[in-house]
Amino acid sequence: MHLNSSVSNKVISETIKSVKKSATIASKKEQNFNRQECWYPVCFVRDLSVNTIHSFSLDDEPFVLFKTQDGELACLLDRCPHRAAKLSDGRIIDGKIECSYHRWQFAPDGQCLDIPQLSANAKIPLNACVQSFPVVESQGVIWMWSGETTSADQKSIPTVPDLDKLNCVTAEYMADAPYNQCYFVENIVDFGHIDSIHNGTLGNDKNIQALEMEVTETSIKGFRGRFRYMRKPDAPWLEMSFIAPNFITYSCKVNPLQDWTWGVVCYSMPLSEDRCRILIRNYRNFMTGSMNLKPRWLDHMFQNKIFEEDLQVIMGQQTQMKLLRENWRKHYLPLKTSDLFILEYRKWLDRVDLSLPTDGNNLVSQSTNIQSSSTDIDHKFELKVNCSDRLSRHTLMCSSCKCAYQRIKIFQQICLVLATLILVYAVTAEALESQIAILYFIFAVTLGAFAHKLKTKFEVSHTPSQKNWLHWSFSQRIRNNSQT
Ligand code: FES
Ligand SMILES: [Fe+2]
Repeated sequence: MHLNSSVSNKVISETIKSVKKSATIASKKEQNFNRQECWYPVCFVRDLSVNTIHSFSLDDEPFVLFKTQDGELACLLDRCPHRAAKLSDGRIIDGKIECSYHRWQFAPDGQCLDIPQLSANAKIPLNACVQSFPVVESQGVIWMWSGETTSADQKSIPTVPDLDKLNCVTAEYMADAPYNQCYFVENIVDFGHIDSIHNGTLGNDKNIQALEMEVTETSIKGFRGRFRYMRKPDAPWLEMSFIAPNFITYSCKVNPLQDWTWGVVCYSMPLSEDRCRILIRNYRNFMTGSMNLKPRWLDHMFQNKIFEEDLQVIMGQQTQMKLLRENWRKHYLPLKTSDLFILEYRKWLDRVDLSLPTDGNNLVSQSTNIQSSSTDIDHKFELKVNCSDRLSRHTLMCSSCKCAYQRIKIFQQICLVLATLILVYAVTAEALESQIAILYFIFAVTLGAFAHKLKTKFEVSHTPSQKNWLHWSFSQRIRNNSQT
């Protein structure tokens, strides 16, 4: 940060005033925001295939989502009314979901249609149905309503008008993050970190500087603001908006004369206290060719990298906040020239409900759990494993990456079989043919090795430090176990 000390002091005193002011706001809690009466973004439409089951949770409550052959969407509680087995372990048959345990079948609206164990003249009990939830598609995203069905209003789903324009192209990425949703929102509204932590990928550390920021609108429904680099007085403004509780957009007129627009839309959903789902969509209406041509799985390799650059830092931040057991105001020093939107988001959290996961009291119980249930080494180990598990965090949920991953696995096996056959032939063939066969063998092995390397890119994060850490952590665990 390029500020002299007097400016720094001024910024810090302004910051403190602002934090004190937010504490005052927090004391006047506004209860007219109901976290349950909201639409939540579950996944992109393109990642939910027909007749496949997608399970997820919302604040630890399990749900199952599926799409029938007719295109009908269904979202049910993921708990069989018979004996609580997970419906998501079952299958879809003729538009119905069947529990795998005793084969009870349910319609998309949750009604029980068949119980094979009932005698011929017995009726299906009325309470043998599963709770269902409104679910709709909007701008390529599947949303579920978690509140009262009668109050579900599709018009309240936030949308981006630019996405409906004909020449707009999008790139969509989804992942499950092992941290609380509030840290994700903080991370996204924190433009200042782009040039530091994402140096070389999204940003450039030579651009680290103060930002000119302002909040233009704020209410119980969220806030809007804009910002730009301070060092360039004529730099274009970037618009940012947060629509509570889970929708953030950035947009910028790159070239106002030609109406060139670029934007990012970030959706999120709290899976549990310590996990959230994130959906990120980049869009633009210029230079669309490269975006259309690039295979989606290849783009996701890059998106995974960006996500992982943040991941370890946010996990560390979350761990610290849990261990501190105190409210964020005691441990944050937000700057108006970098953290204004984070401050605004925290103020919004305080305004709507202090019992949200960011509440200090809640953190006490979480941190107590951590300390009582695991040692420091176990916690660090878990953190590193979470950071490196790309397979469950993204690949298996993404239709494009899952398909590419399965094809690469098959290709690798074919290479190995071919290499073995060629080797057998080389051993039995004449000298010249044997030499040619060995060349083919080397080629097949090289292809197999390449496929293996690509396959692991779908499975784990590729940062050498993490591999070393995992190795160290494993050996430390073994040493600990042998000592006890
Ligand atoms: S638990 Fe589902 S059918 Fe028995
Ligand atoms: Fe993907």
